Amino acid sequence: MQVGHLLIIPLFLLLLGHSMGQLKRTPIARQVNQNKTHANVKAEKIVLAAKYFLVDKQASQRTQMVANGFNLEYTIRVCIGTPPQCFNLQFDTGSSDLWVPSSKCASTNEACQEHNKYNSSASSSYVENGSGFSLQYGSGSLSGFLSTDTVNIDGMVIENQTFVEAVEEPGLAFVDTTFDGIVGMGFGSISGGVATPFDNIIKQGLVERAVFSVNLRRDGTSQSGGEVIWGGIDPSIYRGCINYVPVSMPAYWQFTANSVKVRDILLCNGCQAIADTGTSLIVVPLRAYIAINIVLNATDNGEGEAFVDCSRLSRLPNVNLNIGGSTYTLAPKDYIYELQADNNQTLCLSGFSYLEGNLLWILGDIFLGKVYTVFDVGQERIGFAKLKRNSTYRRYPHTYTYANAREPSRYGIDYSFYGHEYPRYFT
Ligand SMILES: *[C@@H]1O[C@H](CO)[C@@H](O)[C@H](O)[C@H]1NC(C)=O
Ligand SMILES: *[C@@H]1O[C@H](CO)[C@@H](O)[C@H](O)[C@H]1NC(C)=O
Ligand SMILES: *[C@@H]1O[C@H](CO)[C@@H](O)[C@H](O)[C@H]1NC(C)=O
Ligand SMILES: *[C@@H]1O[C@H](CO)[C@@H](O)[C@H](O)[C@H]1NC(C)=O
Ligand SMILES: *[C@@H]1O[C@H](CO)[C@@H](O)[C@H](O)[C@H]1NC(C)=O
Ligand SMILES: *[C@@H]1O[C@H](CO)[C@@H](O)[C@H](O)[C@H]1NC(C)=O
Ligand SMILES: *[C@@H]1O[C@H](CO)[C@@H](O)[C@H](O)[C@H]1NC(C)=O
Repeated sequence: MQVGHLLIIPLFLLLLGHSMGQLKRTPIARQVNQNKTHANVKAEKIVLAAKYFLVDKQASQRTQMVANGFNLEYTIRVCIGTPPQCFNLQFDTGSSDLWVPSSKCASTNEACQEHNKYNSSASSSYVENGSGFSLQYGSGSLSGFLSTDTVNIDGMVIENQTFVEAVEEPGLAFVDTTFDGIVGMGFGSISGGVATPFDNIIKQGLVERAVFSVNLRRDGTSQSGGEVIWGGIDPSIYRGCINYVPVSMPAYWQFTANSVKVRDILLCNGCQAIADTGTSLIVVPLRAYIAINIVLNATDNGEGEAFVDCSRLSRLPNVNLNIGGSTYTLAPKDYIYELQADNNQTLCLSGFSYLEGNLLWILGDIFLGKVYTVFDVGQERIGFAKLKRNSTYRRYPHTYTYANAREPSRYGIDYSFYGHEYPRYFT
């Protein structure tokens, strides 16, 4: 397959670039001003556990700790109804639901009250549905009901889009987030049968091809965090070719990665990976987590997060991911988060994290911010390409404030789960 594609794709893109004239682009905002804490990393993991249907035994403890927005940064503007009611939604390839806070939420729902809310009575295009919706998040749940209305994404007018009006939001996890809700860009099979916005975009002929492509900027700002290109590919963003791999099953954007290597250690040899713009981290299976911590000399805190000695950053190795025959390199500056402790000490958190029960490589923005990603719904494949050198600029990814003094490890890693059954969508 490889040789043929390598030759054909660039020529094809050249033609495409000419024939399509202009591609529809929507700016992605990167929210960089939120108060980032280690607690936010934990909150991010609660959300991940819910998204991937993992049993998160620590969720109730984590939820108590979380009072700030979490580290999910990339958003697009989406308007619902007539006249339009607009929302700032997390752009999430790791889920498939569209949800916004409902004006029918309780006054005690703090997360709802502090965000934009959808009011169906104020929309002439609203169609009632009313079916219930619930997604379990550790100690709380995201729940509400379905409604149908016109959805406008940057001028693409989607008719009869069914979405979730969220009435309850889990614990404090969604309080103080910079986004109001989430727009899921995964496949419809994980949205309980509701056609996703992109399904409807395709069905209603709003794009020429059933593809969207994403360039997340790690040096992004709230004005410019990257862009999503609807219906095609922009050759000016990447260099070389786009390497496609088939989607393992159309649910998440899941595919087989050839290998992940650090020094001479093979952390993955044909493993299942997921491209998830809705997390900043790279969440890895337990065996890989243990191995990479040994190579990085990183110390696990007992909660699936590992810290390295900041003075050793320059001596840390690159991590090489091989996908579809092309190797993508993550340098320490890409995968280490610097946390600011209260005492002004800097702590260095490894971006390779562990979540109990997870058997997949969940590749978040640490990886996706380094590549141009093509989400090809029509051909059920995902493509990655290297960014043009001028299209990205990387510093240390984030400066967090580290809220809590380092607690002694309270939870040993539970090795016993390893080899347990896959969560329901992965079988
Ligand atoms: C919803 O919109 C209707 C019609 O504009 C308005 O009367 C009502 O007060 C709004 N409800 C809320 C909770 O904002
Ligand atoms: C609500 O939406 C779901 C998903 O699109 C659909 O299956 C169901 O028939 C709808 N229910 C009503 C009452 O419209
Ligand atoms: C949206 O629903 C209305 C009423 O059911 C229908 O008349 C219209 O054709 C639908 N539009 C699309 C694009 O499906
Ligand atoms: C590994 O980390 C430990 C604790 O941070 C430190 O004492 C030790 O010197 C480190 N080893 C290497 C090879 O850097
Ligand atoms: C932390 O560093 C800043 C600037 O470097 C300084 O102004 C502040 O006093 C320091 N705080 C503590 C607690 O050391
Ligand atoms: C990168 O440089 C090329 C050529 O100078 C230019 O056409 C392109 O727009 C630049 N891309 C970005 C993202 O700045
Ligand atoms: C950021 O979070 C820390 C720890 O929770 C808190 O002490 C501080 O007041 C917060 N700062 C802002 C600007 O919200």
